[in-house]
Amino acid sequence: MESPPTGKWKHSLLYLGSIFLILHLLHNLVAHKLLLGNDTVRVKRHPDLPLRFRSDGTFKILQVADMHFGNGMMSRCRDVLESEFEYCSDLNTTRFLKRMLEAEKPDFIAFTGDNIFGPSTADAAESLLEAFGPALESGIPWAAVLGNHDQESTMNRQELMSFISLLDYSVSQINPAAEDPITSVKGGMMTGIDGFGNYNLEVYGAPGSHLMNSSVLNLFFLDSGDRAFIQGVRTYGWIKESQLHWLRSISQGFQGQKWDSEQSADALPPATSPSLAFFHIPIPEIRQLYYKKIVGQFQEGVACSSVNSGVLQTLVSIGDVKAVFIGHDHANDFCGNLDGIWFCYGGGFGYHGYGKAGWPRRARVILAELGKGDKAWMGVETIKTWKRLDDEKLSKVDEQVLWAHQRAR
Ligand SMILES: *[C@@H]1O[C@H](CO)[C@@H](O)[C@H](O)[C@H]1NC(C)=O
Ligand SMILES: *[C@@H]1O[C@H](CO)[C@@H](O)[C@H](O)[C@H]1NC(C)=O
Repeated sequence: MESPPTGKWKHSLLYLGSIFLILHLLHNLVAHKLLLGNDTVRVKRHPDLPLRFRSDGTFKILQVADMHFGNGMMSRCRDVLESEFEYCSDLNTTRFLKRMLEAEKPDFIAFTGDNIFGPSTADAAESLLEAFGPALESGIPWAAVLGNHDQESTMNRQELMSFISLLDYSVSQINPAAEDPITSVKGGMMTGIDGFGNYNLEVYGAPGSHLMNSSVLNLFFLDSGDRAFIQGVRTYGWIKESQLHWLRSISQGFQGQKWDSEQSADALPPATSPSLAFFHIPIPEIRQLYYKKIVGQFQEGVACSSVNSGVLQTLVSIGDVKAVFIGHDHANDFCGNLDGIWFCYGGGFGYHGYGKAGWPRRARVILAELGKGDKAWMGVETIKTWKRLDDEKLSKVDEQVLWAHQRAR
């Protein structure tokens, strides 16, 4: 009889043990991956809604104009200095977005179109995921409208807006919910409105304040279209009458809102809460700003539609929109005032979009601040804006007040 080979036995145990360990690790890793994969595909992550001011009485928006995202690392930068060209791609756009989120810690991100640049995009869905990536990871609620280049690859405008509205933390909508008093259709989407990506979002008052359940700031998003032919001549899209009609009906709804008369005067919001609007293509009147005092730079012609559909008149007549944020012309980054309403360019953000070599890519920040009542926060008191450049220090430039509530005291 042989004595038991203890050495061999110990080795076998060790061997079996390590196989178990490896299997266990593999299982955990793979299962984890699969679960994560499922999660991102099937279950949209929602931000806390409604949007609301912080308890310090502020609400900060980051405007990202014209990311022009292509295929990521393979899409080279345009209009950068010779020395910057070699190591520059869409990844620099992603890096800039991450830096902006880190530096400004916005409460909301507004992407104002040409988020992706169709002609350089092999797969629109992949490009959108990568372009909005930092927003999806941040957990910050965000919304987008389309520009004139987004639909130039594998998705049409409707598909793009549906996809965008289903991404994590997106509060984008394809078109307004139907509660049109004229057609009195309830539920679902309002039909007969031109474009995709017309909607509004309400921002509620500070937690714990009298206005915590009321909208004190409204954000309008509009689809300014892409291209069009007018009598055989190529031009850009424009905001149509159906969209302006919708804008008027929403605005009228706000003006009809009744505030609880039991509340003290301090707790009341201004007669109508201010609104901001976001869309891509400038309106023709912005050309007039060349001859007026502006904040920022006017460095290229305004590439708008040859059609003037009366957006400015509509905004003036409804009265609640105090400032409009646009993109499209990457080398323009100014704010100028037309008939009491500010029109501000975001300035080109993305590196694959055209720009001006040596003139840093940039982003706009919008800060709304509540007025301080005797006891608690009231409605919006001021709306300010500034920009940051994608330089070493993310230089902050051109800070200005866009609107201040005139309180009757
Ligand atoms: C692009 O990113 C790379 C890598 O982070 C960096 O070295 C380079 O300076 C960036 N280029 C520009 C123009 O910002
Ligand atoms: C706001 O709504 C919440 C939840 O319905 C309620 O508990 C709170 O008292 C309301 N506050 C005000 C100021 O209306």
